[in-house]
Amino acid sequence: MIRVGKSIKESIKNLKKGKIVVIPTETVYGLGVNALDQDAVDKVFKLKKRPYYDPLICHTDSINKVKEFVKTFPRKAEILAKNFWPGPLTILLEKKKIIPDITTSKLKRVGFRIPNNKLTLGVLEKINFPVAAPSANPFGYISPTLPKHILNMFKNDISYILDGGGCSVGIESTIIGFENKKTLVYRIGGITIEKLEKVIGKVEIFEKNIIFPKSSGMLKNHYSPKKDLIIGEIRTLMKKYKNYKIGILSYNKYYEGINLKNQIILSKNLNLEEASRNLYKSLHLLDNMNVDLILTSLLPNHDIGKSINDRIIKASKKNEF
Ligand code: TXA
Ligand code: MG
Repeated sequence: MIRVGKSIKESIKNLKKGKIVVIPTETVYGLGVNALDQDAVDKVFKLKKRPYYDPLICHTDSINKVKEFVKTFPRKAEILAKNFWPGPLTILLEKKKIIPDITTSKLKRVGFRIPNNKLTLGVLEKINFPVAAPSANPFGYISPTLPKHILNMFKNDISYILDGGGCSVGIESTIIGFENKKTLVYRIGGITIEKLEKVIGKVEIFEKNIIFPKSSGMLKNHYSPKKDLIIGEIRTLMKKYKNYKIGILSYNKYYEGINLKNQIILSKNLNLEEASRNLYKSLHLLDNMNVDLILTSLLPNHDIGKSINDRIIKASKKNEF
């Protein structure tokens, strides 16, 4: 049985030994290890069954510490860090040699962020190495926002789960970087495009998959439940799939004709932030219900709604919209 608790000391002890400690963040829980220890990082790739070409994000607690591990910290990074850290923004920066190749999948840049969680900051403050932490789910599956999600997905090889309760943002960090004077967003997430642009002006969304140009097909199903998640107009889909046991993930309302206990609402007050906080939790619940498939619709496509839609689309295997 994996141990769960609130001990910062216990977390540090295990990280220093090269073990995997699950850390809470405001976005999702992460499988944390010493980012400078190749063997420890390797354990995370193996546990997640993650391909080695998919790099890990490093977490620390101050801008000065980040600067120890990167060659330059551009002015724009300084502005972003001052505005959004601690918070759900990862900045790609040119790495120093001390960050091993395995952590960044041999890329020249490393992703850094300062997460906004008291317990995790308590850990990061007291260690002199960054913690590499991918979301604490098997590769491709739904990300965890509660300790029980991790206990359902993993049985061994985790030394400790630091319990920070539910994640306040609920979807992964936005990833940003700089290329040829442009500011590019590689993954939309917890910090919205609207908020970024207020602070640094126009950003571009990087559409292609820079990291895995030859294998984007492999990543079509990400953040996915085991059940089919089907996107469309829910009533139309209900008719089409009437011979199946249907589960519904809805923004704000229940649908007549489907058992209420098989329906989950993301935010009855149409609050996109609440919807984001509830997204993965709801998908975990629906995936473990006695239903054959999950019907859902996209949310309003602005602010964090864009990031939610990105995750819903990647999580679904059949798009009918
Ligand atoms: O909110 C988050 O970012 C969470 C929490 C735990 O911090 N972490 C997270 O990690 O989402 P993960 O491994 O599930 O997703 C990280 C993604 C990778 O799939 C990769 O696409 C991108 O970040 N990434 C990491 N390092 C990169 C780099 N050096 N260059 C380009 N992309 C990078
Ligand atoms: Mg992930």
